[in-house]
Amino acid sequence: MTFRSLETADLAGKRALVRVDFNVPMEGGVITDDTRLRSALPTIRHLSSRGAKVILLAHFDRPKGKRVPEMSLAPVVAPLSVLLGQPVLFGEDCIGEAAFKAVSALENGDVAVLENLRFHPGEEKNDPAFVAELGAIGDLFVNDAFSAAHRAHASTEGIARLLPAYPGLAMRRELDMLDAALGKPVKPVLGIVGGAKVSTKLDLLNNLVRKLDRLAIGGGMANTFLAAQGHDVGGSLCEHDLGDTAREIMASAKAAGCELLLPVDVVVAREVKPGTATRTCGLDDVKAGDLILDAGPETVKRLLAAMDASKTLIWNGPLGVFEVPPFDMATVAAAKHAAALAVAGKLTAVAGGGDTVSALNHAGVADDMTFVSTAGGAFLEWMEGKALPGVVALEG
Ligand code: 3PG
Repeated sequence: MTFRSLETADLAGKRALVRVDFNVPMEGGVITDDTRLRSALPTIRHLSSRGAKVILLAHFDRPKGKRVPEMSLAPVVAPLSVLLGQPVLFGEDCIGEAAFKAVSALENGDVAVLENLRFHPGEEKNDPAFVAELGAIGDLFVNDAFSAAHRAHASTEGIARLLPAYPGLAMRRELDMLDAALGKPVKPVLGIVGGAKVSTKLDLLNNLVRKLDRLAIGGGMANTFLAAQGHDVGGSLCEHDLGDTAREIMASAKAAGCELLLPVDVVVAREVKPGTATRTCGLDDVKAGDLILDAGPETVKRLLAAMDASKTLIWNGPLGVFEVPPFDMATVAAAKHAAALAVAGKLTAVAGGGDTVSALNHAGVADDMTFVSTAGGAFLEWMEGKALPGVVALEG
């Protein structure tokens, strides 16, 4: 893919519409994790220092085309201003008179946040009239919101076709790192896919078995595979009706030469409770009423050896119920090992997806991985091999 470059763009005095993802976790109007604000800073600073008028466009939550006061973007303004070290203006609307007023108050280098795009139904409908209204307040468009790029909305897709469009710096880095992990990876490539359900990751598994050398399956979804192989998984989370699907995935993996790594031992308990009594056992020793809540030590040993034998790792989804210790053992051990290999320069370790980021933070190694994507749905769709409309529209 080829993109226009912000490095060489003529930015002075230009009104730069910048799509960011400020869909941050918030409690009572207070941001509880500002990662997404921080990831937008390099692009904002780049534009501002080159004399652009920086107009930030974002959505917050899902107001469904109506003005919902609790979903205002106003609470991001002060924290963003602190992080940037410069004042940030706020426009009460992203189109029309209020937007024009906010934009015309900007001097070169100034920054404004405009109100939630999704207060207008035209945003999610990618309505050409709404796109035109957005276009009227900008001279160029920068998309720095990879995590919203799976949406074909006015501010991610439509506007990129109307104005000269550029990927922002965070978007560029995200695309480069994802390409290094799955587009043109250094082989052998190992994937780890965990999480609760196979049904939510079918497209993902089907795409990965065709691309990877090895794929480790963990978390609740591994139980579906174990059951499909004829193992008794007791009372564990398991999609018993997906047995045929699991067998088909195993057959595709075999045909494509992708080695599937399924648990060979497990940690079981009678309830999901911190400090509850646990038992480590082989696959044929799971009793009725047992819940499989983590991978066992032998499984972890094999997974770490697979990491040692790989040059690239792509990871989505935890290996056990990591939120409830001691069922974080496999996830933490795998995260620490991947991070250590990444720090030693032996493994390109890329991870993404909401739960995965929390799991890596829980293990204390998120900063040591080669790259951690904060995107949820977009990361998944990209791993599924789907074209992301917000990225495709930036090609030029
Ligand atoms: C996210 O938080 O994953 C993105 O901001 C997309 O949000 P959405 O799922 O509401 O489109």
